[in-house]
Amino acid sequence: MNKVIGDKTFISLRDKYFNLRNKNVYGELSFRERINAARDVKQIAMQNDYFLYRREQDSFSISDVNNKNGSPSCKVNLASNDYLDFTHHPQIIKVGVQYIEKLGVGSGSVPMLSGTYKIHNELEANLAAFTGYDSSLVFNSGYTANYGLLTSLLTFKDVAILDTRVHASIIDGCVNTNCIYFSHNDCHSLQIAIQKAKVYRNKLIIVDGVYSMGGEIAPLCEIIEIGKNNNAMIMVDESHSIGVMGENGKGTQSYLKIIEKVDISTGSLGKALGGIGGYVTGPSGLINLLELTCRSYIYSTSIPPANAATINKALDLLESGDENISKLWSNIHFFKESLKSMGHNTGNSNSAIIPILISDDEKLMGLTQKLYKKGILVNAIFYPVVPKRQSLIRISMSAGIEKTKLEYVLNQIESDSKTLGLIKSAPKKMKAL
Ligand SMILES: Cc1ncc(COP(=O)(O)O)c(C=O)c1O
Repeated sequence: MNKVIGDKTFISLRDKYFNLRNKNVYGELSFRERINAARDVKQIAMQNDYFLYRREQDSFSISDVNNKNGSPSCKVNLASNDYLDFTHHPQIIKVGVQYIEKLGVGSGSVPMLSGTYKIHNELEANLAAFTGYDSSLVFNSGYTANYGLLTSLLTFKDVAILDTRVHASIIDGCVNTNCIYFSHNDCHSLQIAIQKAKVYRNKLIIVDGVYSMGGEIAPLCEIIEIGKNNNAMIMVDESHSIGVMGENGKGTQSYLKIIEKVDISTGSLGKALGGIGGYVTGPSGLINLLELTCRSYIYSTSIPPANAATINKALDLLESGDENISKLWSNIHFFKESLKSMGHNTGNSNSAIIPILISDDEKLMGLTQKLYKKGILVNAIFYPVVPKRQSLIRISMSAGIEKTKLEYVLNQIESDSKTLGLIKSAPKKMKAL
């Protein structure tokens, strides 16, 4: 690569021009200047190949049935959160089609008016039972679930104590409250944060069960202990752990064998469960509070009934120990160990999200583009999504990818990484377990 990329990734270009973190500067621009700046940023990024996003997926089906042998034209999607390949599961598809034929493709209304079908209520009961909570409420995305919950529950008199790497929907949901951040997965830093939070009566500690970029797990046992000792409630976002972690995919708390659960659990229905939507589970009073006050729930159209039905089917399959859970974990172990043995750093990942840590942004972009040209889709993640000098390739594993394809991908990663000087070791033959 002869281009200097450095800080010219699309995201850093966007931040430079828009100064999104400094609202005063952005506020000084006229509407026309803002719109023109956006057009210029997108144009520069596209012309220079810095825009690695919104790539059309038609040719990147996870189950590419025509090409099972990992030939050079092999198309492999390692950038999807469809961890269990449930978007292609024949039994789930069948239920979805049946419900579309019966009830149509949309719900037609917000849940409080005519947008609640029997299947929505069944889904809420199933989600509560599956996650082990009293009650649950379904939203039309994981984002609106987190955002709505937090904007309803927290006021300017309360405090949120947040891991620095929680999802954007959580940060946005804390817009009306006081925030104290602690260093990522660092319980000593949490202790300090909670001391600072002592002046507030209501304290809520918020973490992700599995972090969406590095795939690492929150130290929930220790966090629960700190919460209890300091009279703080705890919320965990299980978006990347439901369906993946613990017994039958019941999430991080199940994986860590936590008996006394955290107070509130939330998640997305758009990842391992293969649909769209989000949920909050917790005590029934909390769910009542959201029904009464939560604006992103009250004023937004409910998920289509067919989507509620497919999620119900996904939960049934998980309860009965669907084979895709063990297929997924077999793929995770094989891929992660192979990456490590070729000399790549996969951080502290212990989930379906496997990062390849590459601090050099130019080489990271080079590797992502080389892989893309060979039919392999991975995500390139840069600052400010991750801290500076901690850029990474985010690989999300799926049960639907055959081992031969993984071997093909590993061989390409190995040879391209060597060309770019990212690893030095002699090539090793990748063999499926
Ligand atoms: C940790 C986490 N929470 C919440 C969300 C939002 O979920 P959804 O995509 O369903 O809005 C995401 C999605 O990227 C996520 O990674």
